[in-house]
Amino acid sequence: MIFSSWVTTFLSCTLAAQGALAITLNIDDLSSVKSAAKTVASDMITYYNDRASKDIPGKLDDTWWEGGSMFMILIQYWFLTGDSQFNDLVQDGMYWQKGDDNFFPSNYSQYLGNDDQVFWGLAAITAAELNYPERSGQPSWLSLAQGVFNTQVPRWDTSSCHGGMRWQIWPYQSGYQTKNAISNGGLFQLSARLAFYTNNETYATWAERIWDWSATTPLLRKTWVIADSTSPESQCTDHGDFQWTYNYATYISGAAYMYNYTKGDQKWMEGITGLIKTSDQFYPTGKTFDDSTGNILSDITCEPIGKCDRNQITFKAYFSSWLAFMTTIVPDTYDLVMPKLRTSAQAAVQTCTGLSSGTRCGIKCKWRYWGVLNANLVQSKKQAPFTSDTGGTSKSNPSAGTNTSDDEVPQLNTVNTGDRAGAGILTAVFVTGWVLAVTWMIRGG
Ligand SMILES: *[C@@H]1O[C@H](CO)[C@@H](O)[C@H](O)[C@H]1NC(C)=O
Ligand SMILES: *[C@@H]1O[C@H](CO)[C@@H](O)[C@H](O)[C@H]1NC(C)=O
Ligand SMILES: *[C@@H]1O[C@H](CO)[C@@H](O)[C@H](O)[C@H]1NC(C)=O
Ligand SMILES: *[C@@H]1O[C@H](CO)[C@@H](O)[C@H](O)[C@H]1NC(C)=O
Repeated sequence: MIFSSWVTTFLSCTLAAQGALAITLNIDDLSSVKSAAKTVASDMITYYNDRASKDIPGKLDDTWWEGGSMFMILIQYWFLTGDSQFNDLVQDGMYWQKGDDNFFPSNYSQYLGNDDQVFWGLAAITAAELNYPERSGQPSWLSLAQGVFNTQVPRWDTSSCHGGMRWQIWPYQSGYQTKNAISNGGLFQLSARLAFYTNNETYATWAERIWDWSATTPLLRKTWVIADSTSPESQCTDHGDFQWTYNYATYISGAAYMYNYTKGDQKWMEGITGLIKTSDQFYPTGKTFDDSTGNILSDITCEPIGKCDRNQITFKAYFSSWLAFMTTIVPDTYDLVMPKLRTSAQAAVQTCTGLSSGTRCGIKCKWRYWGVLNANLVQSKKQAPFTSDTGGTSKSNPSAGTNTSDDEVPQLNTVNTGDRAGAGILTAVFVTGWVLAVTWMIRGG
């Protein structure tokens, strides 16, 4: 989740003079929410269809992981609205990028992080849980999620910190020297959802192992403050403390699946309520990016200073939709999360009154809308994710993704010179981009 991310110009969104489509939303009127969601989804698809890499299903320009997360939201959209017009496109992309049934396609695998891969796995388990249509002759959604689990678990790294997932996969990647919240939280959530769906204890054991390990590091503090990253060199004692909505949401959501799976083990409820409480920081009362105050979700590290990059603009969509789905399997959390997601949806619509295709601002607005609209639709549908015991039809294949040579370190010297040069440049830009990003954030604050 790196290269283009830090490279891309930081976004600033001027909402004036967009013209185009105005969206109105009455949060209490289901057809109004559905119609707003449809407008946003259609506009997102227009953007997708216009991309330079349109010959490659599922591949967005300059980013691979966001294809998976976009499909995840579109799968939810189908489930929540019944609108199937994008299903072919979603299936095309999901299957094209499946690699050896593990979402680790060789075109990109040399440069990917565990977090990139796990987002596709989360899209697949979402499809399984929602009984998203499958194509015959293709692996089941569940097996694709299992394939991601099966490829990630062997990367559990005990050579430092007594465990944990590194951010990136290969020693030559700069992010290899980091263990971060989203990679660990992502696999935690995926494992918990596999346990919930299949009832297979192995997945629950892994979920608990990742949670417990995280709690020995700054990634999951006793104060329920989540550090974004820590390092193997420090034996996971140092910490990068940028606060991001999706880090919290991935741990909260995984804990919710575990709470339900364990039939109410208080350990998980403590985590859920503790992390929801510290997530209050994402509803700042001071100035947010668009000058709105209180009860409106904000990625506070970048939004108030108007410097969210193309990755960061998407984080709130996961936060909103994961927390909303949580309320269907841990109903007690409803009052803790839904009132604020409702005001956030209303605010998203008020502040982004115009959508225009293809513009940066347009994309920012789409992501902003998306999660909160899906979140509010979850409440009208009130249908919990399916499991193999409650009507889920996706077939299990516990050894999916294991017939592969993906676990061998790529021989970079066999890569043709064009690619190698490209990789060198990307790494350089990444490092520069990182420094700039951090500097701007600190200065801008
Ligand atoms: C890999 O790259 C080739 C050449 O650009 C392309 O045809 C193919 O669709 C790509 N595969 C994936 C999974 O993106
Ligand atoms: C688990 O989720 C189901 C819905 O799938 C719900 O009926 C049940 O009450 C939940 N169990 C717990 C312990 O929250
Ligand atoms: C449970 O999952 C593990 C890990 O993938 C697998 O080895 C085992 O066969 C699974 N058990 C069942 C009953 O599916
Ligand atoms: C493993 O993959 C190879 C190469 O793709 C294929 O020929 C073989 O049939 C696969 N084996 C199994 C057990 O799926």
